[in-house]
Amino acid sequence: METRRIGIILNGVTGRMGTNQHLDRSVCAIIREGGIKVNDDLTLMPDPILTGRNNEKLAALAKKYGENTIGKSFPYTTDLQGALDGNFGEYDVFFDSSGTLQRGQFIEMATSAGKAIYCEKPTATSVKEALRIAKLVEESNLKNGVVQDKLWLPGLRKVKQLKEEGFFGKILSVRGDFGYWVFTGMDPERPAQRPSWNYRKEDGGGIMIDMFCHWQYVISNLFGPIKRLVAYGSTDISERRDENQNVYPSNADDSAYAIFELEDGTICQFNSSWCIRVRRDDLLTIEINGTKGSAVAGLREVRIQSDENTPKPVWNPDVEQPIDFYENWSLVPNSIDYDNAFKIQWEEFLRHVAIDAPWNYTLREGARGVQLAELGMRSWKEKKWVEVESI
Ligand SMILES: NC(=O)c1ccc[n+]([C@@H]2O[C@H](COP(=O)([O-])OP(=O)(O)OC[C@H]3O[C@@H](n4cnc5c(N)ncnc54)[C@H](O)[C@@H]3O)[C@@H](O)[C@H]2O)c1
Repeated sequence: METRRIGIILNGVTGRMGTNQHLDRSVCAIIREGGIKVNDDLTLMPDPILTGRNNEKLAALAKKYGENTIGKSFPYTTDLQGALDGNFGEYDVFFDSSGTLQRGQFIEMATSAGKAIYCEKPTATSVKEALRIAKLVEESNLKNGVVQDKLWLPGLRKVKQLKEEGFFGKILSVRGDFGYWVFTGMDPERPAQRPSWNYRKEDGGGIMIDMFCHWQYVISNLFGPIKRLVAYGSTDISERRDENQNVYPSNADDSAYAIFELEDGTICQFNSSWCIRVRRDDLLTIEINGTKGSAVAGLREVRIQSDENTPKPVWNPDVEQPIDFYENWSLVPNSIDYDNAFKIQWEEFLRHVAIDAPWNYTLREGARGVQLAELGMRSWKEKKWVEVESI
């Protein structure tokens, strides 16, 4: 029985996603569980080094998560080039969850060092840049991947299962509702719960570039390839307060509305907003209507209504609504133990790196997400439908 070390450089790890999803709930969780058991003969054991710009923040993070994972601090450094050059030991994988605008330069550095490359989405803010880095890595024959975490959400895995079982019949339409109220921070008692760069265009912000990347892989993996789209964006709130208590003009779109037409004619309509108060089952709900049944998926739970259980409403505003529309839906039971979505994708990527296991979530796939966002912005600006060309 071999336990094979797999060295991972975690860059930009002091951020929200880096710390919570990638370090704590993925890499540390895998180590705490005793690694990834590939088969009876092989277990992969991640061994991270944390990199970033701020030595104090890195030191605190390395100590906190190292001590509760391996009983001592993880290694860390502000010298990313040194880490890539092997000055702190050998590392196989480079992962980046720094800001979107920094991604390209870090991927170039990791490509020169011949690392397997994995990173957060969006891979860039323009399709030109996203394709440039995808090609760079492909030409160097390096294994590569982009985070597409929503595919492993329990809710979406249940939808996939329902579809495979034929529950929906022919799928007619899909409606995604994403969003919640992100505090402006203007009230010092209630600071914003997302980083301020999300609301500044010049820093890579905007809800289209953030969310359309997700909608691209969610829609194409669950419902089929997207043929064309029409979208509209809006900056609903034009002033917010940042992490340093400074008021800044928020110039990026914080609400976006889109209709995606799939190649088979299915219509998927997605609303995304950080300026919306929630009165639905979850922060993201996806309603799928088919000839034989419908489903409403949240992040974890899915409720279904089959054709037989569909009530027959009659329009009559003059009487109290006699139907409780929340009845006649049943909860899809958990058929397995659903692990953290980011962690499952990490495990798949590490298997891909170590034993060449199949992997579809490449930087080129990431570029398709960026393409959808860019087309969304074009449709908004030009006020028209735009076709999705194959890239
Ligand atoms: N998969 C998802 O669902 C999801 C959700 C949110 C954000 N993201 C993506 O993850 C990335 C990070 O987002 P976040 O919300 O964690 O933002 P964040 O601002 O909390 O984190 C960004 C981190 O990058 C660091 N950083 C910035 N410039 C750097 C540089 N030059 N060198 C090293 N480190 C640098 C920052 O110090 C910070 O620690 C973004 O690309 C974002 O689009 C993905």
